[in-house]
Amino acid sequence: MIKPETIQKIFDAARIEEVVGDFVTLKKRGVNYIGLCPFHNEKTPSFTVSPAKGIFKCFGCGKAGNAVKFIMEHEHYSYPEALKYVAKKYGIEVEEKELTSEAKLQMDERDGMFALNTFISNYFQEQLVNSEEGKAIGLTYFKERDFLESTIKKFQLGYASDEWEAYSKHAIANGYSRDVLVKTGLSIDKGNRLMDRFRGRVMCPIHNLTGKVIGFGGRILSKEKSTAKYVNSPESDIYNKSKSLYGIFFARNAIVKQENCYLVEGYTDVISLHQAGIENVVASSGTSLTVDQIKLIRRFTPNITILYDGDTAGIKASFRGIDLILYQGMNVKIVLFPEGEDPDSFARSHTSSELDDFIKKEAVDFIKFKTRLLLDETLGDPTAKVSLIKEIVRTIAHIPDAIHRTVYIQECSNLMEIPEQTLMNELNKLLREKYRKDLRQQPEQEVAVETGIKQRISEQMEINPFDISEHEKQVIRLILLYGSRKITIHEIIQDELGQEVEGEHEESVAQYILQNLEDDGIRFENDIYNRIVDEVKVFMEGGDMPDEHYFVNHPDEKLASVAISIIASPYELSNNWEKNKILVKLEDDDLLKTIITTLNPLRTRLISRHLNELREKMKTSTDDAEIFILQQQFFELKKVANEIDHELKRPFDY
Ligand code: CTP
Ligand code: MN
Repeated sequence: MIKPETIQKIFDAARIEEVVGDFVTLKKRGVNYIGLCPFHNEKTPSFTVSPAKGIFKCFGCGKAGNAVKFIMEHEHYSYPEALKYVAKKYGIEVEEKELTSEAKLQMDERDGMFALNTFISNYFQEQLVNSEEGKAIGLTYFKERDFLESTIKKFQLGYASDEWEAYSKHAIANGYSRDVLVKTGLSIDKGNRLMDRFRGRVMCPIHNLTGKVIGFGGRILSKEKSTAKYVNSPESDIYNKSKSLYGIFFARNAIVKQENCYLVEGYTDVISLHQAGIENVVASSGTSLTVDQIKLIRRFTPNITILYDGDTAGIKASFRGIDLILYQGMNVKIVLFPEGEDPDSFARSHTSSELDDFIKKEAVDFIKFKTRLLLDETLGDPTAKVSLIKEIVRTIAHIPDAIHRTVYIQECSNLMEIPEQTLMNELNKLLREKYRKDLRQQPEQEVAVETGIKQRISEQMEINPFDISEHEKQVIRLILLYGSRKITIHEIIQDELGQEVEGEHEESVAQYILQNLEDDGIRFENDIYNRIVDEVKVFMEGGDMPDEHYFVNHPDEKLASVAISIIASPYELSNNWEKNKILVKLEDDDLLKTIITTLNPLRTRLISRHLNELREKMKTSTDDAEIFILQQQFFELKKVANEIDHELKRPFDY
């Protein structure tokens, strides 16, 4: 926990043009600075920094914020990480609240593992270029593969010599403990001695999002079939395979800029593409893609392009995994490399621009790709074609967005020469079946809870239980009326180690509401409301708030009239002026309570909707693993619904 005084100090010290200037070349233009936006691709600068306001704003992509926000966005740091970064830049000592000794021990242990990995990675790099064995075997091999010296440096490639306990001994001699060596998986405990896990291999460190070494992959050079080509670090406290992607640290900025992430199979594909100037690329490292890995990519972009080598058996095996990506609402394209080529070999036999052109030209939408590939196999076989149609429609049913689904149905209807309506019917049948199956499978108790929520909501509002427009309006009303007022928040928060500590701080109503909406990923259905929220955000990030006249006098007439009618709304509901005055007085007295009782009904409605969607998806899914994941999401969400439900019933007592 960083102390509020320290946070204030950091904000006071930060000069936006200096913080941004470390990453973007800025030119003075009047009172402001301008440069090329680091968040999207542009040729003429529309990225503006205002030292007076302490904010940056890009008029091309709309990103805006203060110095800390810039670091969060640019470096993909969390809020505390960004604060610490800025603090360090200005020599401000970050005072954190004392950690418990157990928490410290845990932190020390993880830090120790990172420190050892870095130490060993340096040792491997040094062995590669300085030891006879490293030079003769490792370096020669990299040269054969056309890896440049700069590439080897960038990816911190190294060499582990062919001995039983070379680096284990070296680490012990330098003060690292046996325990950490075993915990990181670098060494294998053989009772009286340690054994190096990696022997006689070229070494490739695996980094997490912030560039720390979490594990290694080591490739053997001999063609001998008896040893595995790659040995990888086992899972550990700092290396969770299903949540990591090879290359993400080197790719993250490029992914954001290119608005696309290329997905390849192996370490060498990532490295070769980088060398060819294509940096928005990560590898799943030989395993099939997990939901967590997809979510990691989705933090940076909703677009994935999968680069396949020309072996169709592998492609078909991966189709199920791709349904999972679609299910996350992402757009998937496929690039198929020519027979016998993978991204690595193609990059070496072609120029960078040929490679770039190839990927851009060959990228095909996944559903089209799957349809074409399977269609080829069904020529002249009606039965096969029937099952193909069902298969494709099942894939389309994974797409959460109805409009997207419809577009795909249209395209596939053309490709497969099947009337659109036939496909639509099949899709609806699937969605219906799923829905019925869910209702049957749903335990009675569950149904009761949910009906309870719906009933109470409709009692409150007497409108369609899925209609959220009134709730959205009430939230906006609070922002417009009370946005700049301060409220005191008491809360139990988690520090970086997950320890629960008590905290109290003051923030504005707008800050509180916007943060709540953002935390829950809530965007309004009514786009005018979103625009109001976005404008308030820009103000807030610049450190102030629009006054009560701002939206009422907004240059955009539509926006102004919406704001006016919302602010006036409680008086429209009834003619009883006295009663309404009391109402406003009451909500004014306990703003936090008013906010919570306004936000929660909006939340429950959105959750009910989402639960419905999940239920439908569970019905159409045929993949056990996926149904399992859906169920987990379902119950997780249900838990949240129950909690809010509880809150709504309980009289306020704080
Ligand atoms: N892999 C692994 N263990 C193996 C084989 C492969 O972990 N025994 C993983 C590695 O992450 C590897 C990826 O699967 O990068 C793809 O395998 P492959 O295409 O065989 O390796 P490349 O990275 O292409 O290596 P190279 O070009 O040197 O053969
Ligand atoms: Mn390869």
